[in-house]
Amino acid sequence: MSRIDQLRREIAAKVAEYYRTAHASQPFVPGRTRVRYAGRVYDERELTCAVEAVLDFWLTAGPRVQSFEDRLARLLDLRHALAVNSGSSANLVAVTTLCSRRLERPLEPGDEVITPAVGFPTTVAPLVQNGLVPVFVDCQLGTYNLDPQQLEAALSQRTRALFFAHTLGNPVDLKAVTGFAQAHDLYLIEDVCDALGATYDGRPVGTFGDLATLSFYPAHHITTGEGGAVLTDDPRLARIAQSVRDWGRDCRCRHYSPPTGACGRRFEWEIPGLEEPYDHRYLYVEIGYNLKMTDVQAAIGLAQLDKLPEFIAARQHNFDCLYQGLKPYEEFLILPTWQARATPSWFAFPVTVRPGAPFTRRQLITFLERHQVETRLLFAGNLVRQPGYRHIEHRTVGDLRNSDRVLRSTFFVGVYPGLDDARLDYVLETFADFFSPFATP
Ligand SMILES: Cc1ncc(COP(=O)(O)O)c(C=O)c1O
Repeated sequence: MSRIDQLRREIAAKVAEYYRTAHASQPFVPGRTRVRYAGRVYDERELTCAVEAVLDFWLTAGPRVQSFEDRLARLLDLRHALAVNSGSSANLVAVTTLCSRRLERPLEPGDEVITPAVGFPTTVAPLVQNGLVPVFVDCQLGTYNLDPQQLEAALSQRTRALFFAHTLGNPVDLKAVTGFAQAHDLYLIEDVCDALGATYDGRPVGTFGDLATLSFYPAHHITTGEGGAVLTDDPRLARIAQSVRDWGRDCRCRHYSPPTGACGRRFEWEIPGLEEPYDHRYLYVEIGYNLKMTDVQAAIGLAQLDKLPEFIAARQHNFDCLYQGLKPYEEFLILPTWQARATPSWFAFPVTVRPGAPFTRRQLITFLERHQVETRLLFAGNLVRQPGYRHIEHRTVGDLRNSDRVLRSTFFVGVYPGLDDARLDYVLETFADFFSPFATP
């Protein structure tokens, strides 16, 4: 064994020992230990993989990013995955890709994109950034997904695309939505940031649209710290998306740098008006950004991917526990619902306080938080009411009544794999304590 290999082995052993010593989980003390809604779930493997990547010191997108992309594409059985530095960046790349002048039918400023009012702001921000007009439809309470019944009413001469998230891991009614998109020749982007592993009719969500996006922020199904990905089965869209991600350039050498380029004719590209051919590495064909992921992040992502099946199973187990435990309180709370054809991959457990309940959402979440049960709101609630979005150019369908209810009355608690049965029992006991002065089941 070379000295280098020996040193790497010693370092890996020390890192593993460090993990066991410094990162070991603390015993759960009910009422004192915070029951998080989400968090990184990792072991010595993520730490050693990250350190190995640091020792290689590639720093930027290198061979590990490529392996991570290959595995993501295989996971969803799609031809292309591009790793980026966040789910928000993935959404920006996806929307900007559909605006490319290299497409026969690009989205153009003023074109309308149907999207639900309930959701995360950076599903909608890239529409605004690209001069597109969001047309907000309402959601269904329980699934918190866009209401397909509203799609026809959202349609206009300018409607060109649909962009929606599978809210909190719960698949949208894809039969209705894909049928509508096909009937009206609309692009479809799936925001799968919260839904990695969910299926509809046995097929992974993220494979139904033209493009799909993922987030690897620590609250999500796998993490790279910050991170995300854009997925597509269409080589043309993949090529544009890569350009948008990589400064707008056309070159696809990635981390290799063969003297004549991956294209084999690196110095033979033309810029109109220039007598001499130009270097492909510096040929810019899109208005792009730099949204790439780094190799250290990808190293962690690769280790996380090995654990994805057990993560998804744990989330389902935790969801089932909370569902059974909260079912007796349905007179107060709307529990989550999902499509018969869908298998969700839960991000969290959402509930809505019913209008007639003898308490408010604020009272309930204040009680839970005071007893160390972490809660979160369903992101922006009704986005149209958020200060940053109130004044954007948009249309709405109907009165967005359910979205307003989400804004006022919905929240979620965690189902992430870091929760064990002791923590879940404690969450349910805390809910029961809160409900005890009211009608008991
Ligand atoms: C549905 C949805 N889309 C996009 C994002 C943005 O992802 P990121 O935080 O990685 O930018 C999130 C974040 O949680 C999300 O929930």
